[in-house]
Amino acid sequence: MPTPVRVLEWNGASIWVFADAPSACCAAADRIVQVIQSGVNNRGKAVLGLATGATPIPIYERLVAQHRAGELSFADVTTYNLDEYYPISPADPRSYHAYMHRQLFGHVDIAPNRAHVFDSTVPEAFAAEHVAQYDRWIAADGGLDLQVLGIGRNGHIGFNEPEELPVEEALRLPSRLVDLHPVTRADASRDFGAEPQVIPRALTLGVAPILSACSILVLAFGTQKAEIVARSVRGPMTALVPASLLQSVPRRVTWMVDEAAAQALGTGRG
Ligand code: PGA
Repeated sequence: MPTPVRVLEWNGASIWVFADAPSACCAAADRIVQVIQSGVNNRGKAVLGLATGATPIPIYERLVAQHRAGELSFADVTTYNLDEYYPISPADPRSYHAYMHRQLFGHVDIAPNRAHVFDSTVPEAFAAEHVAQYDRWIAADGGLDLQVLGIGRNGHIGFNEPEELPVEEALRLPSRLVDLHPVTRADASRDFGAEPQVIPRALTLGVAPILSACSILVLAFGTQKAEIVARSVRGPMTALVPASLLQSVPRRVTWMVDEAAAQALGTGRG
């Protein structure tokens, strides 16, 4: 496993700073493999919460390479993706179904009925029932061994967007249908061609089920994430910075960041 250049601690969370994003992704992939192997050894299966976006792509490449080399099997792995645009067809190349198929599911031996992504073809009147059921499936699987997260420039985790809400209420947010924040829509325009074409709503795993994971791995790379990483790990816990809510489960959270994303963190311990 690549070793971090330094490890910081802020509000009880560990922040592993790597020289660059590829090293951090290698370490993150190695952590996922450890979780898979120990889950499979200890309870016969591993349950992972997976993220999409640009950040985790090299992680999936490494997992696929290890599978191809005969070193890693997903036969006893169950996955739950964090979010999906709503509504969208799984056949739409911009969907997270399609992303996961391209990056991981299409290349490994995971059982199709264990690779879960929200179904964004459900009628809107049944969306709440579908996401509640998704939360129950996770619980019935014994919960997530590991949740992998990226972070939006606005601090979102999954599509839990910044909002004016008391912290206690934000911590209880269940999986649900949400409106995307303007910063999220702007960033998603790279996949949709232009901002007006971005599907403005999504189904997301809620804050509460994310925080229930046994361990949480957050990845952030590049200077454009530096300020929000610092606000998330050092700043006050607030629903206006959803990733700051991870401070409520500090010992379970590891951040893996590159030097650029760590630049506003300083060198001290908080
Ligand atoms: P990105 O997205 O990996 O494409 O930067 C992260 C996120 O929005 O969670």
